[in-house]
Amino acid sequence: MKNHSIVFWLLLILHLSSSFAQRQVYVVYVGEHSGEKTLHEIEESHHSYLLSVKNSKEEARASLIYSYKKIINGFSALLTPDEAAKLSEMDEVVSVFQSHPRRYSLQTTRSWDFVNLLEGGDLNHTNREKELLHKANYGKDVIVGLLDSGVWPESESFSDEGMEPVPESWKGVCQNGVAFNQSHCDRKIIGARYYLKGYEAYYGTLNNTEDYRSPRDKDGHGTHTTSTVGGRIVPNASVLGGFAKGTASGGAPLVRLAIYKVCWPVPGQPKVQGNTCFGEDMLAAFDDAIADGVHVLSISIVPFDLSPYTEDAIALGSLHAVKRNIVVACSAGNTGPAPSTVGNVAPWIITVGASSIDRIFSSPVVLGNGMKIEGQTITPYKLNKMYSLVYAGDAEVSGSTNNNTTGRCLPGTLAPEQVKGKIVLCLSGYKANVEKGSEVKRAGGVGFILENPENGIGISVDAHVVPGTAIFSNDSATILNYISTNKNPVAAIIPARTVLNSKPAPFMAAFSSTGPNGLEPNIIKPDITGPGLNILAAWSEGSSPTMLPEDHRVVKYNILSGTSMSCPHVAALAALVKSIHPDWSSAAIRSALMTTAGQNNNMGLPITDALGNPATPFHYGAGHFQPVKAANPGLVYDANYTDYLLFLCNSGVNKLNPSFKCPKHFPSPSNLNYPSLAIARLNGTMTVKRTVTNVGSSKSVYTSTIKPPVGYSVEISPTVLHFSHLGEKKSFTITVKAESGIKGEYAFGWYIWRDGFHVVRSPIAVSSA
Ligand SMILES: *[C@@H]1O[C@H](CO)[C@@H](O)[C@H](O)[C@H]1NC(C)=O
Ligand SMILES: *[C@@H]1O[C@H](CO)[C@@H](O)[C@H](O)[C@H]1NC(C)=O
Ligand SMILES: *[C@@H]1O[C@H](CO)[C@@H](O)[C@H](O)[C@H]1NC(C)=O
Ligand SMILES: *[C@@H]1O[C@H](CO)[C@@H](O)[C@H](O)[C@H]1NC(C)=O
Ligand SMILES: *[C@@H]1O[C@H](CO)[C@@H](O)[C@H](O)[C@H]1NC(C)=O
Ligand SMILES: *[C@@H]1O[C@H](CO)[C@@H](O)[C@H](O)[C@H]1NC(C)=O
Ligand SMILES: *[C@@H]1O[C@H](CO)[C@@H](O)[C@H](O)[C@H]1NC(C)=O
Ligand SMILES: *[C@@H]1O[C@H](CO)[C@@H](O)[C@H](O)[C@H]1NC(C)=O
Ligand SMILES: *[C@@H]1O[C@H](CO)[C@@H](O)[C@H](O)[C@H]1NC(C)=O
Repeated sequence: MKNHSIVFWLLLILHLSSSFAQRQVYVVYVGEHSGEKTLHEIEESHHSYLLSVKNSKEEARASLIYSYKKIINGFSALLTPDEAAKLSEMDEVVSVFQSHPRRYSLQTTRSWDFVNLLEGGDLNHTNREKELLHKANYGKDVIVGLLDSGVWPESESFSDEGMEPVPESWKGVCQNGVAFNQSHCDRKIIGARYYLKGYEAYYGTLNNTEDYRSPRDKDGHGTHTTSTVGGRIVPNASVLGGFAKGTASGGAPLVRLAIYKVCWPVPGQPKVQGNTCFGEDMLAAFDDAIADGVHVLSISIVPFDLSPYTEDAIALGSLHAVKRNIVVACSAGNTGPAPSTVGNVAPWIITVGASSIDRIFSSPVVLGNGMKIEGQTITPYKLNKMYSLVYAGDAEVSGSTNNNTTGRCLPGTLAPEQVKGKIVLCLSGYKANVEKGSEVKRAGGVGFILENPENGIGISVDAHVVPGTAIFSNDSATILNYISTNKNPVAAIIPARTVLNSKPAPFMAAFSSTGPNGLEPNIIKPDITGPGLNILAAWSEGSSPTMLPEDHRVVKYNILSGTSMSCPHVAALAALVKSIHPDWSSAAIRSALMTTAGQNNNMGLPITDALGNPATPFHYGAGHFQPVKAANPGLVYDANYTDYLLFLCNSGVNKLNPSFKCPKHFPSPSNLNYPSLAIARLNGTMTVKRTVTNVGSSKSVYTSTIKPPVGYSVEISPTVLHFSHLGEKKSFTITVKAESGIKGEYAFGWYIWRDGFHVVRSPIAVSSA
């Protein structure tokens, strides 16, 4: 059971909130505005839809929550299931869906140094990286929008010192609200808005002590992701006690930031268990962001479950964005490592998995018998003498736990008389790590040893409210055994220190959601991986590092883990590539990132999962992103809006754009001009087409190399591509033949185009019928 994972905790929240179910907000999605109607006419048309199912004009007006008027055509309203069904039968209506059972949730620094070190592999990486940043003007003409929990504008990471005036193309606003006004936007944060009508229709009025009714962040997540994309260079940033000390910087330190606050606290739930983001609020944010003129969107939000594209606000909003060449990067989700857990799978999105960097916060446990067990923490307390050690399961208030919950340090379970002055061993599960620390503190423990909720070598560290370190899950049995076989068990927790150049790195974080793609298995998802384990970035001073109510510590920087953290890394790189190649489509930018990604760790060996098994494209898509190479990919696999509509013909979604009619014969989904190739349930032989565009050097010759998946043969034709000018397109076919592939099991391979300088690599995933 994982418990640092914000997405995961929404599972529990959902079951508890059925009492709200009678208030039903539906999104009625109609497509896109043609530009012919005035705002007033649009509003009237939305009212007339409502009037057709409601009894009176007043009732129709009162039921309307949002009218999407700029780009996206549609509205959200309070409806009964019958009214919703009637609307969905109307010709022009693409889909009607309820967003709240499908709520969405949110999911340096060293990370950039590591990315560069990994890519460069030599001591000159910094110069190459500086060259890239310089070439991209540090992203100064690129506007990145974030849909998240808002921002703490006073953070040094968002200083606009020395920045040039706001780009003239910008049409956004700085929305006033609680503790936020025009003065909080400047040349760095150039716009900020907030959306909570959908949230309030469901939960009632926002509790003003739990969040700000404004773009200001009282959570921390939004400030963290925003600074990862575009934080300025801040020397000497670190968390409590000086961990991870170093220069903090976003990936594109001069990009302009546009804040769209769509995520809010769940009433009555501890904040550490995550917040919630409603589809109808996000659609309103997309509508504004596209019209405002953002170039890149970074969305560290994952739908609660996999729904069809037409009922998924992120998929719908992103398609409108991508049509305008806005690049959209989204988190893959934190529900791994189980297969087919990946979210945000639409093929117009860059879906980002999470992996480690080469930094750990070592804080071992020493047992009374002299045995030393590796542990990790960023809790800044010293506890290096021996204390009595007790297993939580042996120190509980009787009747407060059952077979499942015993030993896990759940709230109210520890008996103070058995815990006072001792170090407590807590098993993982059922609550967030920091909540366990809170319980140990309440019961008077001096510290605790926490079983890592995930298997393997990845530990997401916390700044606990009591001294505490997390051990690998496989080591808890050793400590339990020591406790049960000793009369007076004792232990010490060695103060943590930051260790760089840890090996192997990266490995895939166990929580990172994985393929195969549950909606369309003929597209590999996730697309790529980036740093998402223990990432340092700016934090909200309206929150605390643990988000626990009793934690009153205020920090400017905090360490968080999740695909929420890896997504803004990739968004930042997309912004830099966009800055260097402003005319590239969003598909071309994604292609550049993917075909140049790496598959090896800092030991020169294939990247593994947290258990040490080789990772596959279902963990990391094309691999770990490599910024310098991404800026010069040689060839790109381009795709446009029409290609996506053609792709959608396969899923029977032919209404998304009423002016588009699916042809009688449309290409199979594997034929989308994607930088990776998936063929699910291959029966015999299949030939797919790909087209590459030359963006490298005008005259070039590329030859192909293939590593077929085991049990399949793969042929590419032609095997050589001759280009005579930039922008030239060449098509080729890939024929995959099943030979001895095991039925239902995926096998992986790759193919590469090389011209002697560029290496353009695409992963392959195939399964047999
Ligand atoms: C680093 O760059 C310098 C000059 O740019 C070059 O002389 C040197 O050989 C490079 N070092 C490595 C390790 O590549
Ligand atoms: C905006 O907020 C700042 C800082 O909180 C405050 O000093 C200023 O008076 C506010 N301006 C307006 C117009 O309310
Ligand atoms: C608002 O939140 C605070 C802090 O969580 C809580 O004490 C209070 O009861 C809440 N108010 C309402 C009306 O729910
Ligand atoms: C960073 O901190 C070190 C000591 O912790 C100090 O010597 C140095 O001056 C600081 N640098 C900046 C730019 O504040
Ligand atoms: C709890 O565990 C004990 C021993 O492990 C077992 O005897 C008992 O049947 C279990 N009870 C339940 C309700 O599973
Ligand atoms: C323990 O967990 C199992 C599996 O999740 C569940 O079936 C069982 O009811 C639980 N037992 C108790 C006592 O909660
Ligand atoms: C647990 O896993 C870690 C990391 O792989 C390893 O170093 C350690 O020896 C393992 N412990 C046991 C008891 O197997
Ligand atoms: C989109 O790309 C296809 C090739 O895949 C091309 O035929 C078509 O003209 C393009 N459409 C637009 C609107 O650029
Ligand atoms: C595979 O194709 C053959 C011939 O084209 C057909 O007879 C068979 O039913 C197909 N099998 C599956 C599992 O689709």
